[in-house]
Amino acid sequence: MEKTGPFPEARSDRLEADISRMSEFTDRSQKGWTRSAFTEVYNEGRRWLRSRMEAAGLTTRMDAAANLIGRLEGADSSLPPIVLGSHTDTVRNGGRFDGVIGVLAGIEAVRLLREHEIRLRHPLEIIDFTAEEPTDFGISTIGSKAVAGNLTAGMLELQDPDGRSLAEAIRSAGGNPEDIISARRKPGDIAAYFELHIEQGPVLEKSRKELGVVTGIVGILRLLLTVTGSPDHSGTTPMTLRRDSLAGAAEMLLHLEKLCREPADAPLVGTIGRITVSPNAPNVIAGETHLNVEIRSTDAELMEATGASFLSGCCRIAESRSLLLESRRMSFTAPVSIEERMMEIVRTACSDVSPRYAELVSGAGHDANQIAGIAPVGMIFVPSRDGRSHCPEEDTDREHIRAGTDALLRCVTALDTAEEDGS
Ligand code: HGY
Ligand code: MN
Ligand code: MN
Repeated sequence: MEKTGPFPEARSDRLEADISRMSEFTDRSQKGWTRSAFTEVYNEGRRWLRSRMEAAGLTTRMDAAANLIGRLEGADSSLPPIVLGSHTDTVRNGGRFDGVIGVLAGIEAVRLLREHEIRLRHPLEIIDFTAEEPTDFGISTIGSKAVAGNLTAGMLELQDPDGRSLAEAIRSAGGNPEDIISARRKPGDIAAYFELHIEQGPVLEKSRKELGVVTGIVGILRLLLTVTGSPDHSGTTPMTLRRDSLAGAAEMLLHLEKLCREPADAPLVGTIGRITVSPNAPNVIAGETHLNVEIRSTDAELMEATGASFLSGCCRIAESRSLLLESRRMSFTAPVSIEERMMEIVRTACSDVSPRYAELVSGAGHDANQIAGIAPVGMIFVPSRDGRSHCPEEDTDREHIRAGTDALLRCVTALDTAEEDGS
């Protein structure tokens, strides 16, 4: 790294303006912020983002998975890029910060490098990964899966409730699903990946910290259960003769809650956050119920064992109620343990910016989970007000976002120099 002058500091006013502008790209018929992947408002937001990348001096392109990539060349064209990234899609009725700050901080880091005439040896790429949040196709982290080589042909054929395939959706977002393989990067193609993200939980705020060094990221097992009963008249069918798929599903939901509460202090959570009932009418017994199930843990074996135990319990429940049960394993994302070398880079960067930093595990999944399969990853967290996230109340102090951006840039320059030293 060729460096002149004092270490640059991020500008809160620019970050704030970009966060505020991005928040305008939202489905206004919904509460809070809703920018679901593969919608027009998502594409509009990304067109604006692309113009911000270009204004910062990045060369932009979209890869075959519709990941939006901005690139700044380095002094040594033989080196692989350092990558900064996150996502700009939101959950329904979500907030303005989840994912967004990681991408916008990357662009601010580029502006600072150029303004301070710091030339990295490595190229630097800022990536807005496609569809990090769960989609109607039943999977998440779609863009980063493609980069890591984990987006299979079977996944591209998944359909949303309107019958649109994931391949079609990727095409509509500007990708090229027929050539999805070209989005893939092999081990060695990325020097290192750093992601700045809001914590989405209460740990940093409760301990009055400004920055977090992520030590590990939970894995996520996602299942789709279909419970089939009989859609009969709600007034005329005696209670003892019903095959009510929703009542069975309710028992399954409570079974999951009990299983995940049982091992005291174990890093385990289980959630059924989406239930789809058919025909969904007040006077018809539910004939078919779909449950979107997720089990998360930093312990892959515990996650698998809980999944198996949950499914065998569900089979018992279905049998006792004469219901049919089908289960589909939608995805399994392995937990990530951050390498000590990467944690040390993030730790040093955070401590240079503020003495108030702490180490913690991420209970949320990230694009970093996928990228960890092909490159060293590091993550920086900033506190979430009241620990809230995935809701309109999601908020983070702008000074914390600035501090996180400063730490992110320090990670980049440290990695750039470390490789030079051969350390
Ligand atoms: O679901 C998650 O953990 C992330 O916020 N997408
Ligand atoms: Mn999220
Ligand atoms: Mn996120």
